[in-house]
Amino acid sequence: KKVVLAYSGGLDTSVIMPWLKENYDCEVVAFVADVGQGDEELEGIEAKALASGASECYVVDLKEEMVADYIYPTLKTGAVYEGTYLLGTSMARPIIAKAQVEVALKVGADAVAHGCTGKGNDQVRFESCFAALAPNLKVIAPWREWDLDSRESLLDYLAERDIPCAASAKKIYSRDGNAWHLSTEGGELEDPWCEPSAEIWPLTNSPEEAPNEAQYVHIGIEKGEIIAVDGEKLSPYQCLVALNKPAALHGVGRIDIVENRLVGMKSRGCYETPGGTVMVTALRALEELVLDKECRKWKNTFANEFAHLVYDGRWFTPLKDSILAGAEALAQTFTGEIVVKLYKGNVTAVQKRSPNSLYSEDFATFGADDVYNQSHAEGFIRLFSLSSRITALSKENTK
Ligand code: ARG
Ligand code: SIN
Repeated sequence: KKVVLAYSGGLDTSVIMPWLKENYDCEVVAFVADVGQGDEELEGIEAKALASGASECYVVDLKEEMVADYIYPTLKTGAVYEGTYLLGTSMARPIIAKAQVEVALKVGADAVAHGCTGKGNDQVRFESCFAALAPNLKVIAPWREWDLDSRESLLDYLAERDIPCAASAKKIYSRDGNAWHLSTEGGELEDPWCEPSAEIWPLTNSPEEAPNEAQYVHIGIEKGEIIAVDGEKLSPYQCLVALNKPAALHGVGRIDIVENRLVGMKSRGCYETPGGTVMVTALRALEELVLDKECRKWKNTFANEFAHLVYDGRWFTPLKDSILAGAEALAQTFTGEIVVKLYKGNVTAVQKRSPNSLYSEDFATFGADDVYNQSHAEGFIRLFSLSSRITALSKENTK
């Protein structure tokens, strides 16, 4: 029997490796997704997987595909979960699950396994994607089965089996990182009265330590996709990398929130999404120029529905295709240039232009104009407010 485990190199998945072999009497193939979590985590990971007992290890580079086919489409919808969370972990799950299933089918595995706890969103996301892509693969979620419940017990488990592990017994945070974001949960953050310490934010400068000089960044956008940074045409992933740098320097993209998990409980998390926050700001600024009132209203509906869909792990569904098709139709006119200003934790769009802009200085001016006849407004308002007038009159008549 063969199981493909989504392996991160951390303590949990290092324990899962021998645990699967012992409890399922199987061969374990390690699958590592490179989603831009950084060289530190990926360095030597294959050797580590083999030392923990994997029969082989697949490291798959998903960076370009994740940004181009998962993050950019999500950006076109404008999705933001509960008003603030930019969905960094949520968007990465479907592509990781898809690549894991591909390895499983390739090596002829009977099952896939993951290291998510039984309390979180990630288990739902992974398993919903597995269900949609490979309905016949068995799923193993050790955290829902075993009785190991502390870091010490996990470390003991490895020590008893002479499996090397660099992890320490000190309680550390639950983190998830990729090119888009880094999430931090647990530890001191479990108390919402506790302000995050500096170590919660490894990616970004604090606004206090950010430079005193603002920085301007020029962003090129075509049909809802960011295609250039400071005049240089780049791939989606490269655009993200190019924006992460200045945004992190200026302390942009930190949020500290309490969110509603799909499984019912609230959780507190801190997220750093430097380049992503700049992207969202730039796209929204462009949208202001090109979408009329009714289209913007629809866009907000798409955004909200899509945010829940992504958060809840429903990526591989007809609903996703449908909302995305709507959002992509709207995005056809999202072409233009935005200049953002980064300063002390803030990003603001300070210059915007588009060949498809509906903004007209001639119409909007507070000065003299020769295109707009103010007397036309009178008839419009008579009809626009007609139902109010009728309601008020009927109240008068029934007095
Ligand atoms: N709460 C966030 C989400 O559900 C982040 C989850 C982080 N996951 C993790 N395995 N540490 O998207
Ligand atoms: C986990 O429980 O594995 C991480 C948190 C989450 O999935 O929400």
